[in-house]
Amino acid sequence: MMKEIILTVERQVKERLWQEESGHDWHHIDRVRNLAILLAKEEGADREIAELAALLHDLPDEKMSQDRSLSLSEIALWLKELNVTEQANDHVCRILSTISFKGTGASVPLTLEGRIVQDADRLDAIGAIGTARAFLYAGSKGHSLHAEESVPRENMTKEEYRLQPSTAISHFYEKLLKLKSLMNTDAAKVMAEERHAFMLTFLDQFYKEWKEAGNITHKE
Ligand code: ADP
Ligand code: NI
Repeated sequence: MMKEIILTVERQVKERLWQEESGHDWHHIDRVRNLAILLAKEEGADREIAELAALLHDLPDEKMSQDRSLSLSEIALWLKELNVTEQANDHVCRILSTISFKGTGASVPLTLEGRIVQDADRLDAIGAIGTARAFLYAGSKGHSLHAEESVPRENMTKEEYRLQPSTAISHFYEKLLKLKSLMNTDAAKVMAEERHAFMLTFLDQFYKEWKEAGNITHKE
């Protein structure tokens, strides 16, 4: 029963988000779903709830265009029509309402399944794929790669941070490098280590090449 429901949801989400441009394309959803299933197995959580919530997790995102997004009440109605039990429906919608809360990263879902979907989404935002997504996003918004004046300063206030122009590199300090310590589950903490280390290596190399090019002088 739940298997069929998940297949139906998968098919429709795929159709809706196939060529989404703001970093919430179907492939992101599919990776988050697979990571959520893996974490659910390792943490002993309800796999079907985690999978269903992962498939639906970006639909209520306010960054998504009107014709692709679905509000929480539309999702609840859809699940009801698919004969999802009231308990499972409430659980999934509660997960979506906590993880779609943007901004501070301070929102922690109440249930293990919710914490798992949040971790899965965050794992896909870091590492090589997370790095690629950040540049894809920055490109879609016309941001530059990096700006000297936004070289990260220690102890920047929120206000100082906001005043600086957003660049792909500054997003690492704004969000990506913070995600490792925000992971909820032990399984995700372990997976985050390697992905975090890759981003540090990437940034080192980026600055090295940036500096090298900046130091080249052309004597006549
Ligand atoms: P999620 O759906 O994982 O909660 P977001 O909706 O915040 O993530 O963003 C989607 C993707 O775009 C993520 O990989 C995120 O890191 C990236 N992104 C968001 N804001 C920026 C930004 N200002 N610069 C670069 N990348 C960004
Ligand atoms: Ni997401």
